[in-house]
Amino acid sequence: MRGYQLVSGSSGVYRADEARVPQGTLDTDHTGHSGTGYVNLANAPGSYAEWTVRAAAASTASLELRYANGTTADRPMDISVNGTRIAAARPFPPTADWDTWTTSTLPVSLKSGANTVRFTSTTADGGPNLDRITVR
Ligand code: GCU
Repeated sequence: MRGYQLVSGSSGVYRADEARVPQGTLDTDHTGHSGTGYVNLANAPGSYAEWTVRAAAASTASLELRYANGTTADRPMDISVNGTRIAAARPFPPTADWDTWTTSTLPVSLKSGANTVRFTSTTADGGPNLDRITVR
């Protein structure tokens, strides 16, 4: 059972350990993450993290990603919902260091039931480190 589901509907927090990450690891060596770890995407284009987001009804929601980027360069990612790309190479700028987290928010259209939300690295550097997503 998911421990973080606060209310019914599409609201909820989805932790790093709940993501599917075919190329990457769940790491704990930087501080400030909110769950048991954070997603460290492989430093390769195409590495991704994917969550299943459940919505009680078709709706527009706010999707918030909490991330850290301890480099001095942007770590862009594509964002897709149910296989449709809704943001291309969205920028995730530096956050001072890997222990410093910030959020990036965008609107998403969800269908009733299970939705697949995927963040895909678009450069050889990979995406930033990912702490969680929040849907509200
Ligand atoms: C460092 C850092 C990782 C980060 C990686 C990266 O190794 O410790 O947390 O994921 O850089 O460049 O992606």
